[in-house]
Amino acid sequence: MRMNIKGMHGVPMRIATFYGTNTGYTEDVADEIKDTLGPLLVESCQNIEDLSVEDLQGYDVLLLGIATWDVGDLPDDWAMFFDKLDESDFTGTKVVMFGLGDQRGYPETFLDAMGLLYRKFLARGAVGGFGFWPTEDYDFVGSLAVYDDTFCGLAIDEDNEDHLTHGRIEKWCAQIKRELGVLHVCPPEEAPPRVREAASWGARSLGGRLGVQSPIGFRPSSVRRRLGAGRDSRGRSRPVTRSRRRGTSF
Ligand SMILES: Cc1cc2nc3c(=O)[nH]c(=O)nc-3n(C[C@H](O)[C@H](O)[C@H](O)COP(=O)(O)O)c2cc1C
Repeated sequence: MRMNIKGMHGVPMRIATFYGTNTGYTEDVADEIKDTLGPLLVESCQNIEDLSVEDLQGYDVLLLGIATWDVGDLPDDWAMFFDKLDESDFTGTKVVMFGLGDQRGYPETFLDAMGLLYRKFLARGAVGGFGFWPTEDYDFVGSLAVYDDTFCGLAIDEDNEDHLTHGRIEKWCAQIKRELGVLHVCPPEEAPPRVREAASWGARSLGGRLGVQSPIGFRPSSVRRRLGAGRDSRGRSRPVTRSRRRGTSF
């Protein structure tokens, strides 16, 4: 189903994830990123194997996942795709990168492929600068993915730091939502019951404005109160809990 995702100024926004993988780790990370951002936000999550360049066209935001292989090189799928990109035009498309590598085994070429793919899309007119990630928690010697002490995308090391992957993904997903200024406008008739209730209340109180239009994860305090947040019996403020949000966060 085509989702009604909008950007900061209410302009429709289409977001998709594409990844290449040799042994499956990048696919796992891509799936977790999609789940974390929310299934309503990311339109599709596909392996670039068997896709054509045209399949990547028409989106406003591309989340691109790539592991580094063969000492600073692309994984097989992206390698087959790479030269085909030379004929493509991605002018204005926002690219957001995530890369997998092994900082201990390959410290001099850590995440190189993420840098190679990022540069390729920029050369085809894409817009970068989203999802940059600090290098300070990693131990490596060199990387083509580093710009001014920052990785050009999320850096994942499943070989040595898989215990950090989940937290890194959560933090990064929150970061890119902010950076992209994504809004999800949910028409009342499609919303889960609790949102419908809040939406109709919001519509009434806001003079009949249609639907709920709010930045991801944010609701006006009045709507939060309606959903169960507010004050406890001692008058202390009570945040919306995770379980209360489930099914209504976009
Ligand atoms: C032969 C080989 C070469 C590799 N070369 C690099 C490298 O140059 N830089 C790097 O950061 N990681 C390198 N790696 C690590 C992989 O990127 C890492 O294992 C990654 O998680 C694999 O992801 P995938 O399962 O999606 O293909 C290499 C791994 C192997 C087995």
